[in-house]
Amino acid sequence: MYDPIRGTVLRLLCGGSVAALTAAAAMADPMPPETSLSTIDHELLDRDALWTYGSMDTYGEAPFLTDLVSAGVLPPVEERLPTEPIIYLTGAMSDGVGEYGGVFRHVSGGRPEGWNWLAGLHQGWGGVNEAVQECFVRIGPLWQVKGDQSGPLPNLVRNWEWNADYTQLDLQLMEGVRWSDGEPFDTEDVAFWWDDNVQDEGVSARMPKEGMGEGTTMEVTGPYAFRFNFTEPQGPARIESLAYIQGCPGPAHVLKQHHPKYNPDATYESYRTALAADTVPPVVLGAWVPVVYKPDEAIILRRNPYFFKVDEAGNQLPYIDEMHFKLSTWSDRTTQTVAGTADFSNMENPGNYVEALKQSQSEDAPTKVQFGPRVLSWNLELNLSETAGVNNDVDAELRRLFRDKDFRVALSHAIDRDALGQSIARGPFTYPFPGGFAAGSPYYDIESTVYYPFDPAKAETMLDALGLTDTDGNGIRNLPESGSDFEIDIVFHNEEATDWKQVDALVSMFGDVGIRVFTRGVDDLQNVLDSGEFDMAQRRHQWLIPTRATCGYLPISEACPDWHPVGDDGNRDLFDFEVEMVEAMNAFQSAWDPADRAQAARDIQRLWTENVYTVGLVQAPAALLVNKRIRNAHPGTPVFMFDWAEEGIIRERLWTPKDEQLQELLPGTIAEY
Ligand code: GLA
Repeated sequence: MYDPIRGTVLRLLCGGSVAALTAAAAMADPMPPETSLSTIDHELLDRDALWTYGSMDTYGEAPFLTDLVSAGVLPPVEERLPTEPIIYLTGAMSDGVGEYGGVFRHVSGGRPEGWNWLAGLHQGWGGVNEAVQECFVRIGPLWQVKGDQSGPLPNLVRNWEWNADYTQLDLQLMEGVRWSDGEPFDTEDVAFWWDDNVQDEGVSARMPKEGMGEGTTMEVTGPYAFRFNFTEPQGPARIESLAYIQGCPGPAHVLKQHHPKYNPDATYESYRTALAADTVPPVVLGAWVPVVYKPDEAIILRRNPYFFKVDEAGNQLPYIDEMHFKLSTWSDRTTQTVAGTADFSNMENPGNYVEALKQSQSEDAPTKVQFGPRVLSWNLELNLSETAGVNNDVDAELRRLFRDKDFRVALSHAIDRDALGQSIARGPFTYPFPGGFAAGSPYYDIESTVYYPFDPAKAETMLDALGLTDTDGNGIRNLPESGSDFEIDIVFHNEEATDWKQVDALVSMFGDVGIRVFTRGVDDLQNVLDSGEFDMAQRRHQWLIPTRATCGYLPISEACPDWHPVGDDGNRDLFDFEVEMVEAMNAFQSAWDPADRAQAARDIQRLWTENVYTVGLVQAPAALLVNKRIRNAHPGTPVFMFDWAEEGIIRERLWTPKDEQLQELLPGTIAEY
């Protein structure tokens, strides 16, 4: 598919940025050398070795479903499956074709907002979203695919075709996929997703309005076919935007009646909250359906008898009948998995690492700890809006400072990232984070990274030069215009030690250079960010793949990113470097040569770190813990790469031998509608 003309044009364009990059690199401090703790090594496969599409003469199903078919509760399996289901190939499974039954136990620190993911609600993260939503294409499992064959994997969309100048993309849906209530899935659902959610200004869908590029339109071209029309030529990466969490349709036949366009009594708010978390079961395409929800206790899911995937022997997936989510804390997820009372944890709280390593040493430990690359990173997001959440002159003055690059650079120089890292985990785990892509990202490039390391004297000189001096001698600098003490707040999610320990350390580091910081720990950080009422936010920054949740990081649409909100007047003043980052992202989206994509990512990294778009803090490796009872859990699955491990590990192909299966709480049952 490589287009030599486009390739040449892009290389010429990129030539300019190489010069700029060299200039930037000359100003920069080099990043300190990184020693990876990764012990992960795995075999990479061809992309078509993972799954294919096809029909079979006969299909198998979980034995209890056969009983439900005999009892007349369900149609036979071949009528529940699509004409050509997705077939998971045995060669890509570490333990092969599985046995039906059993339970998979998750623990989660999140709480579901509701089941209307089309309106942007989440289902509590930690793997619940990913269990219920299926998306047009899939990128999570790409960690298992050879790097030179990257690009989105088909899922609900089974193939696609570009027109000659790459301005039109025709997509073909699988035929005969059904929702968990047995209703057909087709382009009516696609049209509802795009027209009435993504494009409807009243709905905060996960894909922003411009998520497929500015001016892009979508048209349905058949019951299973749809087309995107772009204003500019696009490249293969554009399709990645149709993966989780942006390209996941919802049931139009359930949701339309709640949408204000179809129901005069409905409002956008009543639409958003129409499918409350406690109204189970929701109608889903995912492998499991939530059937019990007890707030702060648990969510229980049962297998979806209409799930559209099989193994090579024709057995309908998933193998595992029941999935549990204990609603607790993220850190408890690791504690319980190490103790063997849960089956799965993304070990992502560095404070737990040493203890978890110790406990998993023995042969009979329920799980093994294996670190991957540094994919977890934390940063400080300064509110860059001139007006959103500005209530008085002091707020306005603060925002002007935040918008001054020298101020952001000074803040970076005030942070001792080694000390910060040691405050969350003693030992070799953390490494400074300069912002942008984490070190474990395939797109990270150390040479394109501009680093402003700990240098408090420099920080003080720069703050002085900004007119921030201590005019009243109380040890706190004063704002030049209003004369007030220079006080700012850091809002953060108060649950995890990883976050509050960083915030505590920052309070004293900023205090040392004359900035007083107030901490504001909250339960729902997103809510505060959405309100625009914050100075700085500390939180995890998970950006490894440019096309994944781009709106969380770059100003590709008015709704994003959270730290540069549009003001009440509907305006915002983007910096030149923000515009350049969006241009680099567009270059990424339109490139056909992987080298051009890598260059575009390097441009983003340079622009981000040089301008301290966010103030990077520290980054750490993560380890995936899976109970040894669980088969097909490939050693080597990263905690996060193209997506979180819940997406990457392909849970529908996990299984447990009969004699090791745990007792199901709701044996023999499925969701009842
Ligand atoms: C949360 C957790 C991650 C992962 C994701 C999955 O963000 O912190 O480890 O489980 O949910 O959506």
